[in-house]
Amino acid sequence: MKTILVPGGAGYIGSHTVLDLIKKGFNPIIVDDFSNSSRKVISILEELSGKEITFYELDVKNKEGLRRIFNENKIDAVINFAGFKAVGESVEKPLMYYENNLFGMITLLEVMKEFDVKNIVFSSSATVYGIPEKMPLVEGDPMGATNPYGRTKLMIENILVDLAASDDTWNIIALRYFNPLGAHESGKIGEDPNGIPNNLAPYITQVAVGKLEKLHIFGNDYDTPDGTCIRDFVHVNDLAAGHSAAINYLFSGNIGFEAINLGSEKGYSVLEILKNFEKAVGKTIPYVIDGRRAGDIAVSYADASKAKKLLNWETKYTIEDMCRDSWNWQKKNPNGFED
Ligand SMILES: NC(=O)c1ccc[n+]([C@@H]2O[C@H](COP(=O)([O-])OP(=O)(O)OC[C@H]3O[C@@H](n4cnc5c(N)ncnc54)[C@H](O)[C@@H]3O)[C@@H](O)[C@H]2O)c1
Repeated sequence: MKTILVPGGAGYIGSHTVLDLIKKGFNPIIVDDFSNSSRKVISILEELSGKEITFYELDVKNKEGLRRIFNENKIDAVINFAGFKAVGESVEKPLMYYENNLFGMITLLEVMKEFDVKNIVFSSSATVYGIPEKMPLVEGDPMGATNPYGRTKLMIENILVDLAASDDTWNIIALRYFNPLGAHESGKIGEDPNGIPNNLAPYITQVAVGKLEKLHIFGNDYDTPDGTCIRDFVHVNDLAAGHSAAINYLFSGNIGFEAINLGSEKGYSVLEILKNFEKAVGKTIPYVIDGRRAGDIAVSYADASKAKKLLNWETKYTIEDMCRDSWNWQKKNPNGFED
């Protein structure tokens, strides 16, 4: 059985991926410092999977701690989810983002190199396409960034390209996620942001559950059919399955560096998502239109043909499934993992 180290495995996408890895016959080991997640996730994952999960509470910037983990376990590959992800916060605290996201990744790569473990999947993002000129987004399109968070993803991808070029025994995949939505069907794990949510789905569900007063929609004067931004949403279970598929592909060897989009290839506007949530929740969700948010682009959706070709991956869940599952999680846990 292959052992996969999963830094950030207690977070939103990481926790769903850990369950998928177990389902596919891998042995995941979680490393997390709980800077943006709950300790409760570990026992919930054990309950949902029926397996004991090896877990270390550690900051991935702690090199000695990582060395201990690599000494104690025979690691075959790493999936690195550990990092900060809030765009607005990254604008206010850029050094905190550069320090955590870049140093975390570099420390991990250094220790992997020391232990000759050269298989890694990295959580990248559609944000690395910056301000695109055409849709759908294809992996070879020009890259850019509009905020410090996006620049950390872009810089890390560049580091990974350089690393693969310097030593052809590395197998590296950067998965560029589009917009994750949904939750595990049990409603026991899901997205639980700290403070006011940055992402659309938790914002909408927190309004629906009465924690927030109304949804703020940033701009309805974009060049789109209803004037609101259009995004490509992917169920978190589909994303999770994409990671297991990427791990299998890594083990086929001689990968070098590959960037792969994980998206549904469909675009939904903010108002369409709101309507879908209203159906799932069974009531009207109040909203207000605010001005455009700096750095937001009008439309973003993926060409996911590379994921289909290399990973045999495509999305299975519909937008209705995503809204239903996000709402199921929020309704059962109005205060997230604090409940
Ligand atoms: N959710 C999204 O919309 C989205 C989109 C594209 C890319 N991503 C990327 O995917 C990854 C996972 O995202 P998520 O939504 O699951 O975020 P998350 O915040 O829920 O999960 C990240 C996890 O990493 C942990 N962590 C952070 N810094 C750490 C450190 N130095 N050492 C150890 N653990 C640390 C946090 O405690 C958390 O459990 C992130 O890198 C994020 O940038 C997320």
